[in-house]
Parts: sequence; structure tokens; C-alpha cells
Amino acid sequence: MSNPVTAIIVGAGHRAFIYADLALRNPEMLKIVGVADPDKIRQKKAKERYGFSEEFCFDSAEELAKQPKLADAVINGTMDEQHIATSIPLLNAGYDMLLEKPFAVNEDEMNMLVDCVRKNNSKVMICHVLRYTPFYYSIKERVASGEIGDIINIQTTENVSYHHLSTSYVRGKWANSDRCHTTMLLAKCCHDLDIMMWLMGDVKPKTVSSFGSKFQFKKENAPENAGEKCLVDCPLVDTCNFSAKRLYLDQPDRWAFYIWDKLEGIENPTDEDRINLLKGDSPYGKCIYKCDNNVVDHQSVIVEFENGATGTHNMVGGSASSLRRIHIVGTKGEIYGNFEEGVFYVKKIHPTKTGECDTQRIDLNTTGDMVGAFGSHGGGDERLAEDFVSFMRNEKPSLACTSIFDSVAGHKTVYLADKSREQGGIPQKY
Ligand SMILES: NC(=O)c1ccc[n+]([C@@H]2O[C@H](COP(=O)([O-])OP(=O)(O)OC[C@H]3O[C@@H](n4cnc5c(N)ncnc54)[C@H](O)[C@@H]3O)[C@@H](O)[C@H]2O)c1
Repeated sequence: MSNPVTAIIVGAGHRAFIYADLALRNPEMLKIVGVADPDKIRQKKAKERYGFSEEFCFDSAEELAKQPKLADAVINGTMDEQHIATSIPLLNAGYDMLLEKPFAVNEDEMNMLVDCVRKNNSKVMICHVLRYTPFYYSIKERVASGEIGDIINIQTTENVSYHHLSTSYVRGKWANSDRCHTTMLLAKCCHDLDIMMWLMGDVKPKTVSSFGSKFQFKKENAPENAGEKCLVDCPLVDTCNFSAKRLYLDQPDRWAFYIWDKLEGIENPTDEDRINLLKGDSPYGKCIYKCDNNVVDHQSVIVEFENGATGTHNMVGGSASSLRRIHIVGTKGEIYGNFEEGVFYVKKIHPTKTGECDTQRIDLNTTGDMVGAFGSHGGGDERLAEDFVSFMRNEKPSLACTSIFDSVAGHKTVYLADKSREQGGIPQKY
């Protein structure tokens, strides 16, 4: 059996642990041998979870990069705007890398990182976890087999639920682009544009156009008597759909790693700890209409490809539930489905059939093979971590494997869409 790939966690937030946990499930595949994070609580958590000694705890990526090389790879789970500053020294120090998306927050940074990867001949894989879900993976297999012919048009939709929107893009980490340096499209939908580019294969975009704005959560839309902080001075605390009490105290487990991250150092936080946090300076306790959010809450993107095919992506924040939908029309047939339901349909042109076409319904929740192949809970994150090990070992990459070079088209399309949106929809050349 091969030796495990060794890796160091850089940025020990919740994402990095998700991938690193492969080492706990399959120690023959991955071994976590150290951590770099300025947060001492997270350093300790990593050390105890994966069982390495204090001498392999570092305060930053930069400090780690100054040591002699200690592992084959790093799992870089730092925040979006830190990916360049943390990755470049480590790539120059000879590490390969599993790197969270978005791998860069603008085109200049993207080019800088891609050049660095090329110069060092590094292996860098980007965490496009959606590719590894049974739903998208199976659709890609169908498209790649040529069943529906050449793609004429792809429509994708992502509805971001009111809860997720409020938590991440109005009150939370991705609400203000001056702080997080990402747009909502980049943070939320670089996956969707990546899926579109993946399905299009070698056909690259030619022109990108986009519209979007902040529609809902702004001061002028606040109810007349709304307070500043839900639990402190708001008479609507029990009735407002977006009240911190109803969203976070009544449902303390939803998005817990964001909302309660300040309580990480406390072993068993009580309701009182949570109430005090929301009454204090936590952004999650603020009136939803009175935050400093400046990112859009809905955006539409149109892509024209070099072969004349087209694609659209609609991101709509504030919906009652989360939803991802896709509809691909090709010259021989079409595929459409809904990610949350785990069901898609394949329709193939059949001129002599009464209904004009053959229709096949694929239910991924009941198709035994798919469950076996991907794990019972969807398994995108886990599959990606396993594929990173294969990528490191130079084994045959899976259809989903996303090297940094494969991720460029999706990221670049997002940058151009945002540029177009800022210019009122003016088309941008790819
Ligand atoms: N693939 C996905 O579907 C998906 C989903 C959610 C988030 N993400 C992305 O994952 C990334 C991480 O998100 P998160 O919520 O886990 O972040 P986080 O804020 O919980 O963790 C980031 C960690 O980086 C540490 N850090 C800061 N500066 C550092 C430095 N110089 N060197 C080393 N560590 C440093 C912080 O102390 C923190 O512990 C983000 O880029 C995010 O957009 C991806």
C-alpha cells in the first residue's frame, strides 16, 4: 500500500477540517502533520484532532514557508482575500496545494498565482466541490459521452435562501466587499460558472455581460419602528422574518460555525452566552436592514461562447429555500434537473415517437450505484479530498478533477461579469 500523502493545514477554519478529516477516515491516504494559523484555539484543535506535536504548529503561512519543507502539500483554507499572500510563499517553498475557491479575488491576482504555479511546476487543485456531487458528476458524464450532442445553451440558477443570504451576505463574512474583497457572484457562484465552463469543455467564452443590484436589505426598506439590534431595541424581534432571535437563537445549529465562531473557545456555550454575543458587537445581532452590506443580492449573467453557444446564470438571494437548477440543450437532446432533489431528466430527440423524444428520469437518491460510488450524503467534499490524493499521486484524474488551470475560465468569467455589472451591463470580451 502506498504511503499516505502528508499535508499541513493552513487556515484551520471549518473548510480545511472538512478535507483534512480524510486523514481520520483513511489514514493510508492522507496524514495531517502540522498546522499554520494565527488563532491559537484553532492550532490546538488541529493538533489534538490529527495528533502531531507543538513543534508543528505555526502562526502563519508565511512562518511555515520559512521552515524547511515539512510535508508534500498544504490544505489552504484561509479566507478568499488571503489566498495569494498565503499560497505564493508556500508554492515557492515547494509545496503542492489543495486551495479553496475563489482561488484569487481579481484577474491580476489570478494571473500572479497561475504564473507562480507554472514557474514552480506545482500541483494545485481548487475546491470545486459541486463537481464531485453525484448530480453534477452524472450530468457531466452524460454530456461528455456525447448523448445530447453539442451544447447550444446552458441555463443555471442558484437561489440563495433568505437565511443563507442574511447570514453570509448581509450580516456576515461576505457582506461588504471592502472587507472581504469578493463580490457575491465570486463568493457564491464561482462554482456555478465553473460547472458551466466544465460542461462546455474546450469551448471558451467570448463575451460576458451581467446585471445585478442590492434589492432588499437596505436602510430605506427597514420597517418604521425597527431598532438597531434585534435583541436590544427592536419591537419586531418576535415577528420579523430576519430577526436574530428567530434565525439564530431559535435555530442555533444553522450556520453555527459562522454565527457562533466567537464562542469557539468556550466548551459548552449556553443560551446566555449566545444572547450576550448577539446583544454585543456581533454583526449577526444587527437589524438586517441596517448593516454595512454593499454586495448585490441578485445578479444575472449571460455568456456567449466562441462557437456561438450561450449560457445564462441567475443568482437570486432571499428565496424561501435554497435551490440549484440546470437545463442544458444540445443538438441531440437535453438534460435538466434540480440539485436539491437529486433528480435529473435526459430527453433525446426521437422523430418517430409520439412524444417527439425519449425521456429518462435519473433519481440519484435511489440509484444504488451512485450512492455506493459517492457516499450516502452526497459526498462532494469527501470525494474531492480523495481525488486530491490521487492527483498528488499522479494517478488518473477523475472527470471532476480541477487543477488551477481548469478553474481559470470560471473565475475569469465571474470577474468579467462583475465588471460588466459595474458598467451597467456593457459586454466584456473574454
Ligand atoms: N468549496 C466550498 O464550497 C466553500 C464553502 C464555503 C467556504 N469556502 C471557502 O473556504 C475558505 C475558508 O472559509 P472558512 O469559513 O473555513 O474560513 P475561516 O475564516 O473559518 O478560516 C480561515 C482561517 O485562516 C486563518 N488565517 C488567517 N490568516 C492566516 C495566515 N496568514 N496563515 C494561516 N492561516 C491564517 C484564520 O485564523 C482562520 O482560522 C474561504 O475562501 C471560503 O470562501 C468554500
